Amino acid sequence: SRRVTVHDIAAATERGEKWPMLTAYDAMTASVFDEAGIPVMLVGDSMGNCHLGYETTVPVTMDEMAMLSAAVVRGTKRALIVADLPFGAYQEGPVQALRNATRLVKDAGVGAVKLEGGERSHEQIRLLVEAGIPVMGHIGLTPQSVNAMGYRVQGRGEEAAQQLLRDAKAVQDAGAFAVVLELVPAELAAEVTRCLHIPTVGIGAGPDTDAQVLVWTDMAGLTGGKVPRFSKQYADLRQVLGHAVRSYAEEVVGGTFPQPEHTFH
Ligand code: KIV
Ligand code: NA
Repeated sequence: SRRVTVHDIAAATERGEKWPMLTAYDAMTASVFDEAGIPVMLVGDSMGNCHLGYETTVPVTMDEMAMLSAAVVRGTKRALIVADLPFGAYQEGPVQALRNATRLVKDAGVGAVKLEGGERSHEQIRLLVEAGIPVMGHIGLTPQSVNAMGYRVQGRGEEAAQQLLRDAKAVQDAGAFAVVLELVPAELAAEVTRCLHIPTVGIGAGPDTDAQVLVWTDMAGLTGGKVPRFSKQYADLRQVLGHAVRSYAEEVVGGTFPQPEHTFH
């Protein structure tokens, strides 16, 4: 069976169906999400925090993104795989953006890329789309700009709300097939969703966007430490995994693993 395409995504939104997106960073967990029917997976630069042990997304490199994107593509059969362009991979301009996006499409095999910024990124989005690479935009809180903006709710106040609407329209006009709205007031996310014809994908943006996205380690309870209030925890993998590892360690120390059934003679 073929993969989900950007056309399937547009059609689902057209029919009024909400769709779930999840991040993925490796083949094995991505295969679980694929079998569970997640239609769109994001190889997010949140891999910096969730997978590579960085403090922010800022240090993530193209090599890291290409390697983990290829793994997620190999681990999946159905989902549309979207890869983030990491910080520094598109800020120089459209030609740099095209070179790096092309690498993710050709070498890693992703079906689309995502990059941050509305008006400031519209030339990059346009060139990629003209080259035949589907692009997902990302506005509101843009974590690659953490050093300038911090981590706080965006689009509060009339001026900031108007700017967010302009950014959303710039992303759509440049030809993006969808746009992430991160950490914006629910009322504003609803207004952006009404104003656009492309699907909006919310994270910390309330219930009225066309789709939702969560960081998988947050929603599955694997993340250690603080998790954002907007992320619901659907499982406690950290506890499950910790318990399994402690049991294994105890049995090795106590001499009760391995048993005869694990042993060859
Ligand atoms: O990198 C990421 O996980 C993201 C989502 C939160 C949208 O960009
Ligand atoms: Na990201």
